[in-house]
Amino acid sequence: MTERRRVVALISGRGSNLQAVIEGVRSGAAPAELVLVVSNNPAAAGLAHAAAAGIATAVMDHREYPDRESYDRALTDRIDAAAPDLVILAGFMRILGPVFVDHYEGRLMNIHPSLLPAYPGLETHARVLAAGETEHGCSVHFVTRDVDSGPIIIQARVPVHTNDTPDSLAARVLEQEHRIYPIAVRWFCEGRLSLRNGQVLLDGRARDPQELRADGVIA
Ligand code: GRF
Repeated sequence: MTERRRVVALISGRGSNLQAVIEGVRSGAAPAELVLVVSNNPAAAGLAHAAAAGIATAVMDHREYPDRESYDRALTDRIDAAAPDLVILAGFMRILGPVFVDHYEGRLMNIHPSLLPAYPGLETHARVLAAGETEHGCSVHFVTRDVDSGPIIIQARVPVHTNDTPDSLAARVLEQEHRIYPIAVRWFCEGRLSLRNGQVLLDGRARDPQELRADGVIA
């Protein structure tokens, strides 16, 4: 049996992606164990999902630290105490500095609600609608120093409907987020996924952009 990889998740809010990963792990699909969930927001609803699943939780409120660097350092210490193989950002709404990002290079993932490299940053659904796009989606990527622009692991596309609101579009995208994040976590925990010289390898082969999206095409 494959040894289970230790996963730490960072959240700030609702935690629906965390819940999807918890379910993916629980179903036995991923040889993983969620060992710790850290929230920077004491009121994050996702903390309850973690507790209900019997996962250790910690609140580390960034407002209690004098600057980003001291927060990042404390966060690194807390995470490292849990000895993770993989750290996942699941709606973690803090920008992490270079020291943190470099420390977890190749074992730090994020999910972002757009077809990166398009629409990094916030309010992606409203911006996609304002631009009149016909498709939108989500991406799981390795985190690098530049926000929302690390090497992409997997994406899923959704159509944009003419009567969409930011909320209806967000809901369609979120459904796909819940599908692809557990897949990326599983690949990593199975030892099939890695980052080498800035390139994502799956089963030893570089991912090409066509393939990335084909994984997530909705017929
Ligand atoms: C998701 O849309 C995710 O892509 C973005 O933040 C949101 C978090 O939602 N990074 P949840 O907390 O996982 O429900």
